[in-house]
Amino acid sequence: MAQHVTAPTVRAAKGGTPLVMVTAYDAPTARIADDAGVDIILVGDSVAMVVLGHDDTLQVTVDDMAHHVGAVARARPRALIVADMPWLSYHLSTEDAVRNAAVLVRAGAAAVKLEGGRARVDVVRALVDAQIPVMGHLGLTPQSVHALGGYRVQAQQTEAATALLDDARALAGAGCFAIVLECVPREVAALVTREVPVPTIGIGAGPDCDGQVLVLHDLLGLEDRIAPKFVRRYGTLKADAVAAVSAYAGDVRARAFPSDAESYHLSDEVVAALGVAHDVESRTA
Ligand code: KIV
Repeated sequence: MAQHVTAPTVRAAKGGTPLVMVTAYDAPTARIADDAGVDIILVGDSVAMVVLGHDDTLQVTVDDMAHHVGAVARARPRALIVADMPWLSYHLSTEDAVRNAAVLVRAGAAAVKLEGGRARVDVVRALVDAQIPVMGHLGLTPQSVHALGGYRVQAQQTEAATALLDDARALAGAGCFAIVLECVPREVAALVTREVPVPTIGIGAGPDCDGQVLVLHDLLGLEDRIAPKFVRRYGTLKADAVAAVSAYAGDVRARAFPSDAESYHLSDEVVAALGVAHDVESRTA
């Protein structure tokens, strides 16, 4: 599987083996994701909350995103790199959106993701026209946190579910190669997945989507504070890291680190010339 994953490859995966997408925000996490064989690395604007300590995703700019996309791209993953277009980078005009997406592509992204449905169709068309593959994002769209009144499950009533389906159809019609469905009832995700010709990638949208995405720090347990119901933790990296750093701190305080073997040494000749001593007793090598 040495071949790079591309937007057309992802598009063609509709209905096949489920697509695997995770977030990564830097070179080491991109290498972890790629060594694990994921299909898509999302440089999500969740970087604002997961890594940069903000309370929402509205705080990151195109330049912030380009910085993280560049770090991920320098890991040269086989996976498709998708960059989130941050809030207000595609809301002002289609020209502005294309220019901002181009910054992310030049930083190393092979596709961009943006939030919203029918209201974003013109932007999606303009990006596709500029040869930039676009992934849609519907349901709980975190950039709309204030408008939605919080982070909560979407499309729970008939009208909202129908609107979401119409949005998904519109995005697919405008040229999106895949659509993320976040925090929607399983039944709605299944309906959209059945009805749209492009892959759906779910997060908190049940098992019937064409793929799944999780925030890497959540699945690794590196983020161990709150976990929404849809997060499954596959690791305990935060606890492991705290234990490792605590062990290091204990060794430093007990003068058990570094050992003589972990130290550099002068040659006997230089030791003699300087009139200093090797710490021969504790030397191990
Ligand atoms: O930014 C992000 O991590 C996302 C995923 C939750 C899909 O958009």
